[in-house]
Amino acid sequence: MLYDPASRYKWRQETGLMETQMSVPEVIRRRRTVRGFKPDPVPEEIVRELARLATCAPSSWNLQPWRIVVVTDEAVRLALQRASYNQKQVGEAPVTFVFAFSLGGWRQDLEPMTAQAERLGAWSPEYAAGVRRNAPTQQELLDKRGLMREFCLRDTVVAATQTALAAESLGLATCLMSGWQEQRIKAAIGAAGDDDLGIGLLLDMGYSVELPRSPGRFPVSHTVSWNRLGVPFPDPRQSGAEGLENNLETARHD
Ligand SMILES: Cc1cc2nc3c(=O)[nH]c(=O)nc-3n(C[C@H](O)[C@H](O)[C@H](O)COP(=O)(O)O)c2cc1C
Repeated sequence: MLYDPASRYKWRQETGLMETQMSVPEVIRRRRTVRGFKPDPVPEEIVRELARLATCAPSSWNLQPWRIVVVTDEAVRLALQRASYNQKQVGEAPVTFVFAFSLGGWRQDLEPMTAQAERLGAWSPEYAAGVRRNAPTQQELLDKRGLMREFCLRDTVVAATQTALAAESLGLATCLMSGWQEQRIKAAIGAAGDDDLGIGLLLDMGYSVELPRSPGRFPVSHTVSWNRLGVPFPDPRQSGAEGLENNLETARHD
């Protein structure tokens, strides 16, 4: 087995939370896209934990526009594969999280969310009053300018990224995907004709059949600037050919 989920996590008795041995930087460096999955099922407790962790993501105004569909049913998985230009990893993966979002859900969600944040003492009455006053105006403006989809998509991608890293830390392999046809994905998850719903990303997960290699990254100085765009961010660990090597880390799943 390339992945041994049992050795990657444990439940901590005092807190009831799932824990892993890997640090966040380690998980980020180690994650690779996998395009071949074994048929082995993912333990239900991991899937449930990942659903919880997905919903821990931050979002603008804490409005949590994502609507996540956890797909394990074979018929639905195959429908997702057909909707994804027949990319085989979609049908193979025992679990796919479909990260959809609701364009108008904020109208119902704003008040209960604000009241909760206030009750929990996270938001002062003044801050909560500001959210009640300003959020609807700004949301309506986004709607009018045709930017609501972009707004929801941003939050949803944060949740999907966080879930991919959490899955990796729990011993799973993943594939984030945008190569699909939205209307067909909606039909596959039983949301055909639902104009409120958009699809953000698919996240396939399971156990890899292969040891995935990294396709590498540009040196930091190529894509990161310092203070002003175009001023390369200096990284002493990445100069010349050595720099490229540094970002060519290959995952070790042993
Ligand atoms: C938004 C997004 C969409 C992607 N869509 C697909 C996809 O449809 N099919 C696929 O095989 N890989 C897809 N990928 C995976 C990328 O090809 C992969 O992340 C990239 O080549 C870097 O490899 P790595 O993830 O192993 O570092 C996608 C990745 C992202 C972030």
